[in-house]
Amino acid sequence: MKQIGIIGAGAIGQKHAEAARDAGAAVRWIADTSFARAAELAEKFGGAPCDSADTVLNDDAVDAMVIGVPNRLHHPLAIAALKAGKDLLLEKPMALTASQCEEINDVATRTGRIVQIGFVHRYTAVGKLAKQVVDEGRLGHIYHAKAHLHIRRGVPGLGKWFTTKSVAGGGALIDVGVHLIDLALSTLGYPEVADVSGQVYSTFGRRMRGYVYENMWAGPPDWDGVCDVEDAAHAFIRFRNGATLELDVAWAGNFPEPAIPASLMGFFGDAGGMTFELFGDHATLTSERDGALVDERLEAPAAEPFRDQFADFLRSIETREVTGANGCQGEVVQRIVDEIYLNSLPQQAAVEA
Ligand SMILES: NC(=O)c1ccc[n+]([C@@H]2O[C@H](COP(=O)([O-])OP(=O)(O)OC[C@H]3O[C@@H](n4cnc5c(N)ncnc54)[C@H](O)[C@@H]3O)[C@@H](O)[C@H]2O)c1
Repeated sequence: MKQIGIIGAGAIGQKHAEAARDAGAAVRWIADTSFARAAELAEKFGGAPCDSADTVLNDDAVDAMVIGVPNRLHHPLAIAALKAGKDLLLEKPMALTASQCEEINDVATRTGRIVQIGFVHRYTAVGKLAKQVVDEGRLGHIYHAKAHLHIRRGVPGLGKWFTTKSVAGGGALIDVGVHLIDLALSTLGYPEVADVSGQVYSTFGRRMRGYVYENMWAGPPDWDGVCDVEDAAHAFIRFRNGATLELDVAWAGNFPEPAIPASLMGFFGDAGGMTFELFGDHATLTSERDGALVDERLEAPAAEPFRDQFADFLRSIETREVTGANGCQGEVVQRIVDEIYLNSLPQQAAVEA
């Protein structure tokens, strides 16, 4: 049974501890700088709690590590884990920049270790269905894709690490945008990117005390904290094969409901189109049959995304080949993110006036 060390006992650490257990691995360590949090998780899912990643890095019995800590720590901890001879399930975003991702990939190659990135949307019911439909060729040649996620007011943990650029690397784009980019690209078979244009917007979170919210995942706001990241991003990505991807992601925006659906993934081909909601249970296939336009509802088979992702990781450890999201794909996603940040013009700071 593979021995797993989990670094980070926060929201995602809990998901991975449960997934590791359900996929048939042994959780050996749960490390968190908050020992209490590590202990709470170890109590539930097994393993021993500790308050430092070093304990896990120095344990030769650990086969693989899961890194689920704030984004800034992904790069240094990933490098340390690989150098310590551990295989790695590394949470998204892979790192803060593409050059950090490149470095992680170089070390993985040199050490012969595998790196899988936590792009878990590939394992949702609709994520799997979409890939199957595209791979079966039911859409024909796909010329365009859309990836949209609109949250009316959902800046996470306002004022804390998710909204602090030096720790998170950015806001909605690097947090949830990366999931959408990977889901679109993996469904399309990772076509080569030709160019990227885009703009990020920092409109709502920066109001801090004036920010009215509907939900606040990642904990209650720290009104005296920092928010120097974007809460929305819009981008257009062209691939060398002539296909395009329109990305539209927001933690916050003035979105009328239901005029704009909360989430929409769409793939449009010359033989058919497919749309679905990110957390949905079906896709709609749109095509022509016998001279008429038809819409077909495709039910998505049930899935356990985190468990299935972990099972894939365990298989990859055995076969030494990553079948899920690999480090090179994580780097491609990060390059797109880097480009969008680089492309973005400074915004007129209306809220700061
Ligand atoms: N794949 C997904 O769907 C998904 C969902 C949520 C979060 N994430 C990613 O997981 C990571 C963590 O997010 P979260 O929501 O769990 O955050 P969180 O704030 O809930 O948890 C982070 C934990 O890391 C701990 N920590 C901080 N520094 C540490 C260190 N040096 N060593 C050990 N532990 C340390 C903190 O004490 C905290 O318990 C982020 O990169 C985030 O992008 C991915």
